[in-house]
Amino acid sequence: MSKALEGYRILDFTHVQSGPTCTQLLAWFGADVIKVEKAGEGDATRAQLRDIPGVDSLYFTMLNHNKRSICVDTKTAQGKEVLERLIRHCDVLVENFAPGALDRMGFSWERIHELNPRMVVASVKGFGPGPYADCKVYENVAQCAGGAASTTGFDDGPPMVTGAQIGDSGTGLHLALGILAALLQRQNTGRGQKVLAPMQDAVLNLCRVKLRDQQRLERNHVLKEYPQYPDSRFGSSVPRAGNASGGGQPGSILKCKGWETDPNAYIYFITQAAVWPAVCRVIGEEGWITDGAYATPEARLLHLKPIFARIEQWTMTKTKFEAMEILNEYDIPCGPILSMQEIAHEPALRASGTVVEVDHPVRGKYLTVGNPIKLSDSPTEVRRSPLLGEHTDEVLTQLGYGPEQIDALRAQRVI
Ligand code: COA
Repeated sequence: MSKALEGYRILDFTHVQSGPTCTQLLAWFGADVIKVEKAGEGDATRAQLRDIPGVDSLYFTMLNHNKRSICVDTKTAQGKEVLERLIRHCDVLVENFAPGALDRMGFSWERIHELNPRMVVASVKGFGPGPYADCKVYENVAQCAGGAASTTGFDDGPPMVTGAQIGDSGTGLHLALGILAALLQRQNTGRGQKVLAPMQDAVLNLCRVKLRDQQRLERNHVLKEYPQYPDSRFGSSVPRAGNASGGGQPGSILKCKGWETDPNAYIYFITQAAVWPAVCRVIGEEGWITDGAYATPEARLLHLKPIFARIEQWTMTKTKFEAMEILNEYDIPCGPILSMQEIAHEPALRASGTVVEVDHPVRGKYLTVGNPIKLSDSPTEVRRSPLLGEHTDEVLTQLGYGPEQIDALRAQRVI
């Protein structure tokens, strides 16, 4: 079967996580992704967080599937020549170097556009234009600067970052979308363009609802869906909401049977207004269906803590999976807190190709997260990440280099 991005060539000048997430998606959709790495070293993540000495780390392998790897020292004259040929050969250049690195290498937007006017040049940077534009940025900096940390955690604790890599992988997703839009526009204009996804902006986009709440707070001085209501005072900015949903349908994380020993024996329970009578029946509080203090969503906001405490008395008598089964019968929205161990063995995720076992020639078998986006006419086959420089000769040959020229580049340590 053909692939959605078949025929598109991506010059993948990315490293670490944010950029590689983006180009991995493009590769899964069928693009030919050529990862350009520093000769001899490669992407720093190959050697980071290694679990097997001398073997590409899971950090690297899990972010670089379906790509080809070519080693070129792009700071040498001959290396720049290779890069120029690649720029002419490809549709998109994706990079996430520190600000200015590509210019210092001699490949400004103007220069790239001159070499290939159709090329889309896509960048992840920590910040957009402004006081921090020149800063190097990693995941948690973006989570902090994008509003996620100040709104995550508990009211009586410090700001908190989340395990979901919204700064890196979240920005990679945004960048991929920008690239596809630019490629579509190119079909009409014939011109490439710059695509920029700053990590701060991407995180803020994902924290959009908190900026919504900031404005609601400024207008009404209270957020009735937050756990601070009605007992504590609100300050001038959106507080941390713990595990409260904070949205239109109150929710909370509740203990289930076994919580004393299992750190993940919990369920997320949402008291959706539409199923409030069913919630009352399940927990044995039928009186709450008509009691004025509980009967309407507005009235319940004053009593969310005791309501969830009562529901928890019920959930604690069930395992999270038993509770799920009962609640699903009544269409009560809920979800088990799944550990990574449970997710790794979840049959449905295996069947859908979202959790995939991959074989690697050096590492052997390992688990990875496959393509979470499913296209009915472009199925994803997850192929292992490339070894460092595995495709250098193959790609150089495609670019028109002969065997002697390749040998000479190797002798001069350009590749
Ligand atoms: N051959 C020769 N040199 C190469 C090369 C190659 N194939 N590929 C990269 N380089 C050089 C670059 O030219 C640059 O050199 P310079 O600093 O002399 O100009 C250097 O390698 C890469 O630098 P940099 O991007 O600064 O790497 P770093 O490890 O110091 O910083 C980050 C890492 C992630 C902090 C930084 O790249 C960054 O802020 N990126 C943007 C935001 C981002 O994506 N962050 C999330 C990462 S998950």
